[in-house]
Amino acid sequence: MSKPRLISGIQPTGRLHLGNYLGALKNFVALQNSGKYDCLFFIADLHSLTEGYEPKDKPKEILNLLSDFLAAGLDPKKSVIFQQSQIPAHSELAWILNTITPMGELRRMTQFKEKSEEFGENVGLFTYPVLMAADILLYDTQFVPVGEDQLQHLEFTRTLARKFNSRFGHILMEPKDLLTDIPRVMSLQDPSKKMSKSDPKGCIFIDDSPEEIREKVKVAVTDSDSEIVYNPEEKPAIANLMRIYAALTDNFIPDLEKEFANMNYSEFKIALGNVIAEHFNNFRENKKRLNTEELPALLNSGSKKASKIAEKKMGEIKAKVGLTF
Ligand code: ADP
Ligand code: TRP
Repeated sequence: MSKPRLISGIQPTGRLHLGNYLGALKNFVALQNSGKYDCLFFIADLHSLTEGYEPKDKPKEILNLLSDFLAAGLDPKKSVIFQQSQIPAHSELAWILNTITPMGELRRMTQFKEKSEEFGENVGLFTYPVLMAADILLYDTQFVPVGEDQLQHLEFTRTLARKFNSRFGHILMEPKDLLTDIPRVMSLQDPSKKMSKSDPKGCIFIDDSPEEIREKVKVAVTDSDSEIVYNPEEKPAIANLMRIYAALTDNFIPDLEKEFANMNYSEFKIALGNVIAEHFNNFRENKKRLNTEELPALLNSGSKKASKIAEKKMGEIKAKVGLTF
């Protein structure tokens, strides 16, 4: 019996933050190491072209994300790690899926609305979810581990798969999401907003120095009164910090409430700053030790493996659509 397949991608757009880590990357590593899945992880470089960027910086951003993957524990011997743009089938399938996508479906996408405000509209941002659907559907993927903000895109992917199947014959598999316990990490400066690199003060980057991490946590906003109790509605800031603490220490929230019962917010924040800074010790060391010269070849070899799967599926899809003789 072959294992169920899972796929996920991250865009190479600057540095990864604690939201990306707790919502996605940490889980990628755990899923890989569970040995229960056939895992594919990729660098969504085509998607990243929809946001403002400098062409000369892009190769560095791609290799930096690959370094983050490896330093966090993704292993090319256990998972296929590849670069989206090296596999033309992603763009080809996206085009075919574009032709069965109603404009209205895409106009509803929250990420399109948010990102077009931030970066200005472009058609790539508009059809972003179609390329994401192609990424997933090309590999007959059963599961997609992502953060909560991607659920709308996954729902859209399932809708497209059904639509394709009913028009051309049943060959695309509908994927399910795999969320972590903490699929939406909030900003340290405003617990009503998700943590995002567009707000660097509210955001801990996973390669921040221990000093930077401790300082950012120290100045994180808190709620009124000073008790460490979990109440997401009335105390959203401290609830967010408690979820981060629990996720990084594999603790349960009620145990944290007991442990910190007699402490105030600043004592809790000092403890949390230490937990986060120490959690990334290994990561920082691993990243420093990587041999950067080997990275491009490593990515190419993963891309070759993914390409074999993608090309085969693309052949089947083209035949169904009527493009082959
Ligand atoms: P960003 O949203 O920072 O631009 P990406 O879109 O490339 O980064 O996201 C990579 C992964 O990180 C996705 O699975 C996404 O759902 C997850 N993610 C991003 N921000 C958060 C957050 N604040 N909390 C939890 N998961 C997040
Ligand atoms: N859209 C995802 C994000 O912003 C990145 C992504 C692109 C992705 N293609 C994917 C995630 C396919 C999972 C599967 O985070």
